[in-house]
Amino acid sequence: MAEISAPRGVRDILPDESWKWAHVFRTIGETARNFGYSEVHLPIFEHTELFARGIGDTTDVVEKEMYTFTDKGGRSITLRPEATASMVRSYLEHRMDILPQPVKMWCTGPMFRYERPQKGRYRQFWQVDFESLGSPHPYADVEIIALSLEAFRRLGLTSLEVVINSVGCPACRPAYRKELSDYFASRSEELCGTCRDRLERNPLRILDCKREGCRKVTEDAPDVLGSLCEECREHFDSVRSGLDSLGAAYHIDKRLVRGLDYYTKTAYEVLSGALGSQNAVCGGGRYDNLAEAIGGPPVPGVGFAAGVDRIVMVMEQEGCSFGPEPLIDVFGVALDEPSRTELFRLVDALRRAGISADMDYGKRSMKAQMKSASSRKARFACIIGESEVAAGTVVVKNLQDGEQREIPVSDAPLDIRTQLLSTRKG
Ligand code: HAM
Repeated sequence: MAEISAPRGVRDILPDESWKWAHVFRTIGETARNFGYSEVHLPIFEHTELFARGIGDTTDVVEKEMYTFTDKGGRSITLRPEATASMVRSYLEHRMDILPQPVKMWCTGPMFRYERPQKGRYRQFWQVDFESLGSPHPYADVEIIALSLEAFRRLGLTSLEVVINSVGCPACRPAYRKELSDYFASRSEELCGTCRDRLERNPLRILDCKREGCRKVTEDAPDVLGSLCEECREHFDSVRSGLDSLGAAYHIDKRLVRGLDYYTKTAYEVLSGALGSQNAVCGGGRYDNLAEAIGGPPVPGVGFAAGVDRIVMVMEQEGCSFGPEPLIDVFGVALDEPSRTELFRLVDALRRAGISADMDYGKRSMKAQMKSASSRKARFACIIGESEVAAGTVVVKNLQDGEQREIPVSDAPLDIRTQLLSTRKG
């Protein structure tokens, strides 16, 4: 046991898992390209003000969950809890408004939230985040939802549920908020302590409470869809008909509100039954006022983020394929010390020829080295001893069928490459 372990809620993604992650990133990257999104790399920390103003002061994320510290220059810095605010900051900072709109970008990386760790919930977790900036058109919303669903389809995730809602806009939300707050006030004794606190500050969040008592109260709560202004209602109808025209299956959940305050109009989540209480693999929506909230001109935007930890977890539970496990092609075996130098040169030549090859450097018996070859699941063992060095040859043993051949050492890279290609094709 190491004396110092990783902090609570933070974990190492080790080789037995990281190759699965690589498959997820590759698949999502290809989907991004097909939908016209370009990858960007954004900072992991930003000025605290960006998140306080962008995400909203009364959200759990800003109130309780941010990793905030003062740097040596006395500035308040926060490890990003999400990427949308940074994406919009970057769009504004680099004057992307002069580019053809919308500007479509995606990024990936770790996010940080001081939440109570549990299954599928970590303090450092990875997101893939997609944003389409500059278009108010409902098809931009439909495209974002369709992109997330296509990425999940390619990953083999089938039993997912898509829920959508509209959370209105600054024109219609204040009246709804008031109606909701009056309703909850009339039944406040049935609400949990947290929700009673939310009554004044953020009554919409009560709709999202998972506690039994609060859920019961929310059943009869005023319906957001009934109080949308004409523009929001039309937008929602167009998003729905756009999704219908693509054949996308979804449910409307009028209690769906998101944990971040920047949303306007469309909100959506993709849920998986395999995850337990942390059941969202992805969430997103439209945020037409976020750019102004962080000090820029109005820029309409829509996007989503999906949790990579959760995607891999659901894929494992559903038995989805991660593609072929990256195994070693060749393991080199030296029968004595003088032969090890020759073997080392061969392993180097194989690697340069694009064949994955490895060997031991310690003085180990042939049996021990063959054991390593099989535990590494190598396809071939290349065996060199005194007589092979003298003859300029190598014994190539196929570890799947046991067949072995002695060939000139200089022929080995091409010979092994040809065999690997023919078995990969077959
Ligand atoms: P979010 O719903 O807070 O949205 O997070 C998106 C996804 O990140 C969740 O559905 C979940 O899969 C994953 N996630 C969130 N918190 C954790 C955690 N503690 N541990 C593991 N996974 C987690 C956003 O972050 C918005 N920025 C999405 C967005 C983009 N909206 C518009 N554009």
